[in-house]
Amino acid sequence: MLESARRGVATARSEVPPFIVMDVMAAAARLEAAGIHVIHMEVGQPAAPAPAPALAAARAALDRPVAYTEALGIPSLRSRIARHYGERYGVDVDPARVIVTTGSSAGFMLAFLALFEPGERVAIACPGYPPYRHILTALGCEPVLIETTAATRWALSAEALIAAHRARPLAGVLVASPANPTGTMMPADALGRLIGAAEDAGIRFISDEIYHGLDYAFAAATAARISARPVIINSFSKYFCMTGWRVGWMVVPEPLVRPIERLQQNFAISVPTLSQVAAEAAFDGRDEMEAVKHGYEENRRILVEGLPAAGLDHFLPADGAFYLYADVSGFTSDSHDFARRMLAEAHVAATPGIDFDPVNGAKFIRFCYAGSRADAQAAVERIRRWLKGP
Ligand SMILES: Cc1ncc(COP(=O)(O)O)c(C=O)c1O
Repeated sequence: MLESARRGVATARSEVPPFIVMDVMAAAARLEAAGIHVIHMEVGQPAAPAPAPALAAARAALDRPVAYTEALGIPSLRSRIARHYGERYGVDVDPARVIVTTGSSAGFMLAFLALFEPGERVAIACPGYPPYRHILTALGCEPVLIETTAATRWALSAEALIAAHRARPLAGVLVASPANPTGTMMPADALGRLIGAAEDAGIRFISDEIYHGLDYAFAAATAARISARPVIINSFSKYFCMTGWRVGWMVVPEPLVRPIERLQQNFAISVPTLSQVAAEAAFDGRDEMEAVKHGYEENRRILVEGLPAAGLDHFLPADGAFYLYADVSGFTSDSHDFARRMLAEAHVAATPGIDFDPVNGAKFIRFCYAGSRADAQAAVERIRRWLKGP
């Protein structure tokens, strides 16, 4: 038992590890307070604001009473999200299966509570987004980290999933494509094989599709096109540039709608109303969002072409999202210390891989390229000078 639990201050299950990226942000803020210009590549969020139609809709909504909405979300937003599946992927989704959530973060809590009993085991890819394992742990479930390798383009394979299930049964698996921190993506056939293997083995499938829309190597495939049984989690945070609005969605099999509605009624009553109104209008800001995406593509090119000159010439395929996961083992065996020194000496903030991968993360650094083109260029130059000299 951990210290605060022992002292009776907090429960053992609340003893989840911190999100190290937040510590990097705090150290960067201290440098900035001392007048130093820091280039931020640590936090995974767009520098751009929400699209103009979203802002206009939110402003207009302020003139009306801002009341609770239905627990499952404003019906017109649920329908608009369902329509999005037809427009983007050519798949029919019944609006009744769409649930609006407080960011995808709340979607994970609702999905894990609705799908898994305490003690059940849920597979996630390693490296992966830290809150997956921390939320599962806090809810009494057991995250099972499955290492990914270059052989499967750093994605979870059907073979690895079934091997883990044979070793000890799994209740679920959660996959993201494009992924954080790696930026890698699963081709549609690999995703299809994984979903097929999971369903044949009775393993519940959760697809985190938060980085859809930010795909450069090939078009991201939705699990909704492969089967109606997976739980799909998505968000307005990334492609739609609405992190702080805290609004996302789930698409769930019909029998899960009512259980999740009951959970949401009790936990939150409803998702913030202004954010839902803005989210619905955000779909009309497609041109703006595509322009922002093209900016990321340009930043990605600057990093992919520029980092090798700094000696960082090993990184995972940067297929999508806005991350580049670079191997720094030629320089250090401690990525946390490397990130700390890069911030202090080159004034570039990035996140140590150890946040995402307790096994091999000490060899990797994650760069987020969701900022400006000038920042991407300046970051490459600062890192080159720091590692190679003037
Ligand atoms: C892979 C992944 N999933 C989910 C989230 C949570 O996002 P939000 O709660 O803003 O929708 C993030 C945030 O960085 C993420 O990287």
